[in-house]
Amino acid sequence: MGCGGEGTGVVPFVALLLLQRRPVAGRALLVTGSSCPGHGLCRSNVQEQTRRQVALLNATAQDLFSLYLKCQGEPFSSEADKLCNPSGVVFPPFRVNRTSERKEVMVAMYQLFAFLNASLGNITRDQEELNPTAKELLDRLHNTTKTTRGLISNLTCLLCKNYNIFQVDVSYGESSKGKGTFRKKQQGCQVLRKYVQVIAQAARVLLPHLSPP
Ligand SMILES: *[C@@H]1O[C@H](CO)[C@@H](O)[C@H](O)[C@H]1NC(C)=O
Ligand SMILES: *[C@@H]1O[C@H](CO)[C@@H](O)[C@H](O)[C@H]1NC(C)=O
Ligand SMILES: *[C@@H]1O[C@H](CO)[C@@H](O)[C@H](O)[C@H]1NC(C)=O
Ligand SMILES: *[C@@H]1O[C@H](CO)[C@@H](O)[C@H](O)[C@H]1NC(C)=O
Ligand SMILES: *[C@@H]1O[C@H](CO)[C@@H](O)[C@H](O)[C@H]1NC(C)=O
Ligand SMILES: *[C@@H]1O[C@H](CO)[C@@H](O)[C@H](O)[C@H]1NC(C)=O
Repeated sequence: MGCGGEGTGVVPFVALLLLQRRPVAGRALLVTGSSCPGHGLCRSNVQEQTRRQVALLNATAQDLFSLYLKCQGEPFSSEADKLCNPSGVVFPPFRVNRTSERKEVMVAMYQLFAFLNASLGNITRDQEELNPTAKELLDRLHNTTKTTRGLISNLTCLLCKNYNIFQVDVSYGESSKGKGTFRKKQQGCQVLRKYVQVIAQAARVLLPHLSPP
């Protein structure tokens, strides 16, 4: 796995001390307006597609995180435990488990991937600016975003068709816009590290709820 060039320099460790956590913005997202759109929203194999997308995201999350770390250079590559502590980001709570109702699971999934989609947008924008030659990392970020958006559209269809849910409350993390290089890199690594944990949990909970291939 290559990064296509060196990082943009070492940021003083002291910067850590200046970090502050800001509250997370929350708002209700209209999935499809005030009702589910008519026929043609769902493909016949939507459950199978959803299964595959979650399994694919779970299978590629760790590599994405590792490559991300490598491409940020020092101190990130050697101090990941300290710098990328996921308690520094507020993910949507994922409180469902195998015994939860399927509807609850689907809503929790939607909230998780809506958050992830927004976070990936920030991470990708920052990496395009900070590590423009890290082609493989950028490819992986683009692929992950594409899969996430396909997954969201499939979840939207399942929620509408099966449960008549067309509105879900979502929260997005903080925007990284206007932050310094160190903080942008750190926010990305915190999100991606937490993502590795949460996607494994999501796969464990969701996959048994969808019919096997
Ligand atoms: C599983 O989730 C449901 C809510 O979806 C909750 O009531 C129950 O206590 C949870 N069970 C465990 C073992 O965490
Ligand atoms: C995903 O995030 C982008 C911003 O990066 C946003 O424009 C888009 O509407 C989001 N898609 C969904 C399905 O939430
Ligand atoms: C960055 O994150 C914020 C908050 O999560 C979100 O509203 C915004 O759409 C994201 N920006 C991009 C380019 O994805
Ligand atoms: C990204 O997706 C394309 C097409 O789906 C695939 O050919 C490529 O290998 C993927 N790249 C990575 C790094 O996953
Ligand atoms: C579901 O996922 C597949 C595969 O990514 C995608 O082609 C499709 O547009 C998605 N949405 C729906 C509603 O089927
Ligand atoms: C998720 O990915 C991890 C790491 O690759 C793997 O060990 C685990 O079995 C996967 N979980 C599911 C439910 O596929």
